[in-house]
Amino acid sequence: MANASQIVSLIHSHFSSEDERFSTLALQIAAHEAKLGHTATAQQIREIIDKQKSNKAKLRIIKIHSDLGDLIYETTPKNRLNQLVLPEELKLRIERILNEYRQRSKLQKHGHSHRKKILLVGPPGTGKTATAATIAGELHLPLYSVQMDRIITKYLGETSAKLRQVFDFIEAQKGVFLFDEFDAIGTERSKENEVGEMRRALNSLLQFMEASNSESIIIAATNNIELLDKALFRRFEDILYYKLPSADDAFQLIKNRLGTFGKGIKFKDLENEVSGLSHAQLTQASDDAIKESILNDMGSVDNDILKTCLREKRAYQ
Ligand SMILES: Nc1ncnc2c1ncn2[C@@H]1O[C@H](COP(=O)(O)OP(=O)(O)OP(=O)(O)O)[C@@H](O)[C@H]1O
Ligand SMILES: [Mg+2]
Repeated sequence: MANASQIVSLIHSHFSSEDERFSTLALQIAAHEAKLGHTATAQQIREIIDKQKSNKAKLRIIKIHSDLGDLIYETTPKNRLNQLVLPEELKLRIERILNEYRQRSKLQKHGHSHRKKILLVGPPGTGKTATAATIAGELHLPLYSVQMDRIITKYLGETSAKLRQVFDFIEAQKGVFLFDEFDAIGTERSKENEVGEMRRALNSLLQFMEASNSESIIIAATNNIELLDKALFRRFEDILYYKLPSADDAFQLIKNRLGTFGKGIKFKDLENEVSGLSHAQLTQASDDAIKESILNDMGSVDNDILKTCLREKRAYQ
């Protein structure tokens, strides 16, 4: 049978809608059962999880109406704010966005509207896309990811017309609209005509955004703030800057991710290993460490395994 702390974690992950975590814990229990020789039970648990995962994958990506077909993807995230590890100031800014949306009719009565044009800036893997998913999850709104790079490469010369259609959709459909890596083109690898088109597309995007009266929240995310014209910033009602995590935030993230697997970790010894890694890399290293300890039939992750997994992530930089 699963031990008490596994059951507590399982219940906790269920009620905080942490599906990934729930599956991981259930698989840990399956591994434990298998070790005790209860292979039928272990197999039964694994089959339930596999079936659930493949159903989910089918549901996750729903195509929007035919015209915008492959340009916008809809998902329904369940992300929660308490899963994000961010400086207090950033959390407060995200809470303010949520609060203004929730109380938008109160603001409207006094001639104001909730903030809904938001720019997220920061290095890779620091939680920009996750923040958009969290805003959608907390507000129970669908998340629509607009594929800017595809608009540019597929509709070269007609990006403005395509963006017009996207904004017609935004006016008609309430949701969180994410223009992720919205300046993705404009790098050295891009063809010259694409760079020019990107500039035109960005201008159209900002004009449409300015004219928009929708209740939807429009989020743009970027790594390269230098590529953006200063004039662009004015169009956003909020600009949130993301950074690599502090050592304490890195420890907190690992702790959250390891859960009951992290009981024995001495975080003080890991300062060098976590320094310079992004939230995404720390998350991956924690998951790698959990898997490693499962495969080695260990009940929890130890400092050596975690150190190795963290160093491996650094090697990829
Ligand atoms: N601040 C954070 N708190 C908790 N987990 C995080 C955070 N940032 C990233 N993660 C984890 O890393 C994964 C990838 O991060 P995400 O895609 O949000 O990064 P990003 O800033 O959008 O990066 P990119 O610039 O490459 O698009 C997330 O799904 C989440 O599991
Ligand atoms: Mg992203």
